[in-house]
Amino acid sequence: MDNQDYYVRNGDLSYEVDGEHTDAGLTNAEMGLLSGHLCGVRRAAHLCCGAGRHVAAFRRLGIFSVGIDISERLIRRGLRDQETRPGAQPSMLVVGDVKCLPLKDRTFDCVTLLGNSLCLFSKTQCPDIFAQAGRLLSLDGLFVLDLPDADCVRAGMKAPSRTSQTVPTKSFGQVEWEWIRHLNGEKGILISQETIQFRGAAPRGGTERRLRFDLSLYDPRDICSLAREHRFRPVLELCCQDPTGRYKGMLKKRVMLLFQKDA
Ligand SMILES: C[S@@+](CC[C@H](N)C(=O)[O-])C[C@H]1O[C@@H](n2cnc3c(N)ncnc32)[C@H](O)[C@@H]1O
Repeated sequence: MDNQDYYVRNGDLSYEVDGEHTDAGLTNAEMGLLSGHLCGVRRAAHLCCGAGRHVAAFRRLGIFSVGIDISERLIRRGLRDQETRPGAQPSMLVVGDVKCLPLKDRTFDCVTLLGNSLCLFSKTQCPDIFAQAGRLLSLDGLFVLDLPDADCVRAGMKAPSRTSQTVPTKSFGQVEWEWIRHLNGEKGILISQETIQFRGAAPRGGTERRLRFDLSLYDPRDICSLAREHRFRPVLELCCQDPTGRYKGMLKKRVMLLFQKDA
């Protein structure tokens, strides 16, 4: 099972165990960094939006927001969580693949790709994502993305590691999770081989899941070069620290990059 399959087949589990989907503290910290740069933004598309926490946060700023994610289960969770306040800015959550988005050209003035989503894609897939973001944005539109701080990840991973934990969940009872992680320096990826054992109510597909994540550790300078090739102008680099102290891995320290569409 690869990076994408995990979310497609186990979106409900991801919603419960992966902190980012429901972590208001994390979203507030991100919005604290971003909100000052969003003046004039009216329409935003959030790629790989998960359960749509940035859709909701941008909507609270009065920005019309559309979230797109490959995982129908995460989108369903997001729709359930959506605020239905009278007078609230409308928003949409749709299932779709970031590499061929079902959205019209030049209809947004901001596109986001947050929560370490870019690192799920390989070097060869990245250009398609920049091409899609570029297609959606109007001139001078903003593209905001984040990357795990590669030095911080490497410092925390001096040797291959094996960790296991029992995680309580509402939907599946106790879930045992084992991670074996190592760095492939040559390819610039962190490989995480994970085994999940459901001790309570197992979802369809059996009591055990084996996953493999190849997480790309991008250098922000390489992403800026790629952005320039796609006619984006780098405008800002921000450091985003986990405000809760809960995260040890990829969400502990991130680099947030802001680009503007040039032509
Ligand atoms: C690390 S999560 C981040 C979710 C969300 N951005 C957040 O910060 O809460 C990565 C997300 O990317 C989505 N994803 C993975 N591959 C995708 C693809 N090809 N197209 C659209 N979404 C994808 C997953 O379903 C998952 O929700």
